[in-house]
Amino acid sequence: MKLLTIETTCDETAAAVVTDSHEVLASVVASQDSLHERFGGVVPEIASRAHVERIVPVIDETLRRANLTLRDIDAVAVANMPGLAGSLVVGLSAAKALCLALDLPLVAVNHLHAHIYACRLASGAEVFPCVGLVVSGGHTCLYRCGGPLEFELLGATIDDAAGEAFDKAASMLGLRYPGGPALSRAAEGGDASAYRFPRALVDGERLDFSFSGLKTALRYAIAPPPAREPLPIPADPRQITDLAASFQEAIVDVLAAKALTALQATGFDTLCVGGGVAANRRLRARLSADAVLHRFRLYIAPPELCTDNAVMGAIAIGRLRAGLVESLDLDVSPAGVRGG
Ligand code: KG4
Ligand code: ZN
Repeated sequence: MKLLTIETTCDETAAAVVTDSHEVLASVVASQDSLHERFGGVVPEIASRAHVERIVPVIDETLRRANLTLRDIDAVAVANMPGLAGSLVVGLSAAKALCLALDLPLVAVNHLHAHIYACRLASGAEVFPCVGLVVSGGHTCLYRCGGPLEFELLGATIDDAAGEAFDKAASMLGLRYPGGPALSRAAEGGDASAYRFPRALVDGERLDFSFSGLKTALRYAIAPPPAREPLPIPADPRQITDLAASFQEAIVDVLAAKALTALQATGFDTLCVGGGVAANRRLRARLSADAVLHRFRLYIAPPELCTDNAVMGAIAIGRLRAGLVESLDLDVSPAGVRGG
């Protein structure tokens, strides 16, 4: 069985063809980074318009690379939650059109659950049950994952997401967009203990996150109060490196501590990590060390499956097998985290 998967939740237009035995026949991701770069963040209206222009060419190119035609496809899966409303609508409309024209089943994908499923796909291992940690540009969530269809939200950020914090910090340090990879590069060789940044909500058993205070602390480390506008970008490259390393360490500390708390709370011995920030080298190294120290199994999606892609939409195979197909009335659910 061949599944066409579509992903347009934020600023990547992506499609893939995967089989029900997890073989990836083709995957295409059209990045919009160059369109959003000069604004220092994703502009929703620009994102949705770019999806409209790209969705058909991306699907065509995916089929071409898989050496297939639409007639070879058995079902269409689409991420309909959570994400930017206008972006989600483009992918969902394309998926519905294909299902209507070709009389194919439509399967809904929760983008955050799919980020966790990338670990299952890449490893080929039976990762469930596990604690799932999603660290992306828009979300930071911990899940109790009983299986591909059983996700229970344990905690989420109450303000900024980890990736958003990376992006905003990078912008304060005068680094290029997207900020996460740039800040991580800038941090290389820096002294991670040069600045003592806050680690919010790490004590106790609460599994929610907060990163907005960390962002403010960085701002004050760059220019002490009273706040100055515009914020001066540090002139000393050594200071940028140390600030970046210290900031990154604070985020990594929090994510590692919360993941461990979630493992203890659930009694599970497996941690799966996905989402753009999971590509961060320092985070991967820390979690790998923690896995040895605290004896848990660790699966982190490979970097190309951490950032947004349609391959992870293969999570839909489980729903399809369980008969969980949607009517063409399916809507987008932009918020969809606490509910989804
Ligand atoms: O999962 P993703 O591609 O999109 C969303 O669903 O949001 O995540 C994008 C986020 C951005 O905030 C980006 O800066 C961050 O992931 N990111 C990183 C790294 N690569 C991407 N953050 C830290 N270190 C990285 N190497
Ligand atoms: Zn994502």
